[in-house]
Amino acid sequence: MYECHALRRTRLLAQMQAAGGGIALIPTSLESLRNNDASYPYRHDSSFYYLTGFTEPEAALVLVAHEERLQSILFCREKIPEREIWDGFRHGPDGACSLFGFDQAFPIAALKTLLPDWLATAPSLFYAFGCARPDAIVHRWLDTTCQAVGSATRASPRSIDIAPLINEMRLIKDQSEIALMQSAADISAAAHRRAMRASKPGMFEYEIEAELLYEFRKNGAQAPAYTSIVAAGANGCVLHYDANNARCKDGDLVLIDAGCEFGSYASDISRTYPVNGRFSAPQRDLYELVLAAHQAALDAIAPGRPYLESHEKAVRVLAAGMLEFGLLDRNMCGELDDVIASQAYRQFYMHGTGHWLGLDVHDVGQYREPVLFGEKDPARPHRKLEAGMVLTVEPGIYVRPTPGVPEKYWNIGIRIEDEVLVTADGYHVLSHAAPKSIGEIEALMAQ
Ligand code: GLY
Ligand code: MN
Ligand code: MN
Repeated sequence: MYECHALRRTRLLAQMQAAGGGIALIPTSLESLRNNDASYPYRHDSSFYYLTGFTEPEAALVLVAHEERLQSILFCREKIPEREIWDGFRHGPDGACSLFGFDQAFPIAALKTLLPDWLATAPSLFYAFGCARPDAIVHRWLDTTCQAVGSATRASPRSIDIAPLINEMRLIKDQSEIALMQSAADISAAAHRRAMRASKPGMFEYEIEAELLYEFRKNGAQAPAYTSIVAAGANGCVLHYDANNARCKDGDLVLIDAGCEFGSYASDISRTYPVNGRFSAPQRDLYELVLAAHQAALDAIAPGRPYLESHEKAVRVLAAGMLEFGLLDRNMCGELDDVIASQAYRQFYMHGTGHWLGLDVHDVGQYREPVLFGEKDPARPHRKLEAGMVLTVEPGIYVRPTPGVPEKYWNIGIRIEDEVLVTADGYHVLSHAAPKSIGEIEALMAQ
């Protein structure tokens, strides 16, 4: 069951060895207190989970790639029956060691004594410096180590940022990950369908949000992958709107950006529909425009195509439509190429067309040519897409009331977001089960 996690550790150990060897420390997330005895829901660290499959708090993975020694070692909470009465089951070091396939496991309290010992002879410490919160603890261990061995006899271990190595691995999804992401997308698409069917003028946005949450949990999703956006009317023009407390008026569009987390993998889908079930003529103009931009972006997805191409294709379609519908004035902004060069389109489309998706909703992985060690030139070319990458495609248009812009388009906010797997010969839309064309949406809402 945890073979894929063990295989990932083996691959990472080989990369550590190739980089001169050393010891890696990969802690999971800290628990976070909400107030008094109430905690925020616990969520493990994604990279720790990717390499272990282990979801308990107070745990760390140590990888040893030093001389002949290649080992993966878990540090976790001890099995204490009294704590299990209060907080539930714990694997404990012995149980976790055999079930998850580690070479050794120790109580978490042993980390602060064993790690400095091991680091004393290791050439390098591999650690996600700056990413994980226990940085201060690691620096203290390093100081202890240096003091113990004496700086005259032994320099402190070299520090190597392990995040780029793990992030590159996480960027290319394996079959088990793709299956989980398909399930997450299917549940989220069902939630969007449920929300559309339930929507009526006069409802509050939170009532629609409740339909989404019901479908997520009913199907075993652990939680939303991010705070759901349910934005009616003008609220659809607020990119990160999540108050979700306004009433939907007849004639409003509703923009929903919501996806569940299933098996620790995120889903991220946006759909926009008329709360009364019928698009008005101005809504139809802009919806068809965003849908055409969405399709143009999809058409640019295949192995070997540059990451940025789908954004550029979407921008071109959107900008042409802004001129056609009079959102942008040719006399002021010029022709299409001028609008693109000056970025005048950003008045109505101010975000990127996608991002990597995986264990995190904005997943890890570089967008430009990958650099594993050392300085990264921020102006290096965008990377090429590869089979196994998953990204979102999410063009939109947001028209705030503005003098000179036709009033019929004011307060229309539209985003259409799908999750897309790059395949060997093109792409597969994981979120295909969420209706997207005007015909599909109106038919569903008429049921
Ligand atoms: N829901 C966050 C995003 O679309 O990026
Ligand atoms: Mn997104
Ligand atoms: Mn989204």
